[in-house]
Amino acid sequence: MTQDELKQAVAQAAADYVAANAPEGAIIGVGTGSTANFFIDALAPLRPRYKGAVASSEATRKRLEGHGFTVFDLNDVEEIPFYVDGADEIDAGLNMIKGGGGALTREKIVAAVARKFICIADSSKVARELAKLGGTPVLREGFVTDNGNVILDVKGLAIVDPKALEAQINHITGVVTNGLFAIRPANLLLLGTADGV
Ligand code: A5P
Repeated sequence: MTQDELKQAVAQAAADYVAANAPEGAIIGVGTGSTANFFIDALAPLRPRYKGAVASSEATRKRLEGHGFTVFDLNDVEEIPFYVDGADEIDAGLNMIKGGGGALTREKIVAAVARKFICIADSSKVARELAKLGGTPVLREGFVTDNGNVILDVKGLAIVDPKALEAQINHITGVVTNGLFAIRPANLLLLGTADGV
C-alpha cells in the first residue's frame, strides 16, 4: 500500500467511527494536513448527518466548504464530540508532535474543546526513540501561519516528559505555542498499516 492509500484507509476508518458514534446533528472538529484532507473527503458523503464542522485552518475551512459543510466559528459552538486530525509523530502514550502544516495553534484550541481527539496517522508517523541531543531550531523559511506567526522547527530534542516539555516551551517569552500535544493528547489512534487499520 502507498502512504496515500494508508492515509485514505485510516481517514475512512475515522469517518466510519465518527458516523457510528457522533450524535445526529453534531459539529465535528477537523484538523489540518494531508491525512485530515482525506478525512474531510471521507466525511463528505455523510454530510447531511452533521450540523457542520469547526476547522483548524483556512485550508481545512475551504476544503470543508467545498464539500458543502457549514463551517462554524469555535466561539459559536457549544460542543464538539470529536476532533479528528493527523500528527507528525505519535508515541505509545498517544502524545503527539504536530505542526508540520503550521496550523498547530488553532489545532490546539479546537482539540482543547473536543470531547475526544481521534488521531489518524499512517505507520510512518510512530515515534522512534529520540536521540539524547539538544534541540536545533531552524526557522521555517518563507512561511507564516494563519495566525501571523513564524515557526521554528526543532530537531534532535530528547522528549523524556512530553507534558513537562510542552509546558516548559510554552513558558519561553515570545513563544505562542508549540507542536507537542501532550497536555491534551489524543484519546484514540487509528493507525493505517499494510495489514489494515
Ligand atoms: C498541521 O499543522 C499538522 O499538525 C498536521 O496535522 C500534521 O503535520 C500531519 O500532517 P499530514 O497528515 O499531512 O502528515
